[in-house]
Amino acid sequence: MSIRTATFNKVLTVEIARPEKKNALTQAMYSAMADALVAANTDAGVRAVLITGQPGVFTSGNDIEDFMQRPPASGEGAPMPPVIRFMQALMDCEKPVVAAVTGAAVGIGTTMLLHCDLVYVSDEARLAMPFVSLGLVPEYASSLLLPALLGHAKAAEKLMLGEPFSGSDAVDCGLANAVLPAAEVVNHARRMAERFNNLPPQAVRETKRLMREPQKARIREVMAAESALFGARLRSPEAMEAFQAFFQKRKPDFSLF
Ligand code: COA
Repeated sequence: MSIRTATFNKVLTVEIARPEKKNALTQAMYSAMADALVAANTDAGVRAVLITGQPGVFTSGNDIEDFMQRPPASGEGAPMPPVIRFMQALMDCEKPVVAAVTGAAVGIGTTMLLHCDLVYVSDEARLAMPFVSLGLVPEYASSLLLPALLGHAKAAEKLMLGEPFSGSDAVDCGLANAVLPAAEVVNHARRMAERFNNLPPQAVRETKRLMREPQKARIREVMAAESALFGARLRSPEAMEAFQAFFQKRKPDFSLF
């Protein structure tokens, strides 16, 4: 199992721990994270959730081999893919969610931050949403939320060109709260999560709901549209070329498309 969970001092830590693959997320890992987030809602011993990675890497995003071999099933009657269960569980988490971005945060490693409440980033982190470079389209409502946060032009750099950016860029654009030295980011995020222990939990929960609820219906609509396209793109020749190039450690060749 590459997701470790533990509750200490009323903070549930969800630690992504697959360093040999740069914390790439498999279906089993999404399921484990979804289960932990859902359980946190009804666990009175949990006041906040902390999502973190390994030194130098938060997550390199979806496991690209899973994308190739086991693309999420789609269509009427198909079971909900674990990645969608995870996305919904994070969006619907009633407790405050704090992220400690310990290093590289690629794809969903960055888009999930749009659905966390407090985000602390290592000064060594690189964030990127290279969906287009992989022949894919944005997910997790990033096509809606990122332009809303940054404006279209800045969002286009990140979503259409897939330009990587630093932790301080993330703070400047409102995606993160602060940049910390790599050795301090997890402890700082934990201390911030523990601050909820001294606050009235119902008031915290209602405040989060008031802040999130007005946008939820629109976010779900956009996610459904993105997911339909994303599923189709996963099976596209452009994506196949990008995935093969990644594993062959070469640049993809899109000149033929
Ligand atoms: N899926 C599957 N395997 C992955 C992976 C991913 N998302 N990211 C990294 N890995 C694997 C590599 O294939 C490599 O495996 P190997 O040792 O068997 O060859 C191992 O993890 C180490 O990765 P490597 O690329 O050598 O590490 P790096 O430090 O040079 O670069 C990243 C780190 C995160 C910048 C780079 O791995 C990367 O860009 N990964 C892909 C990110 C991506 O496109 N994710 C999908 C977004 S939708």
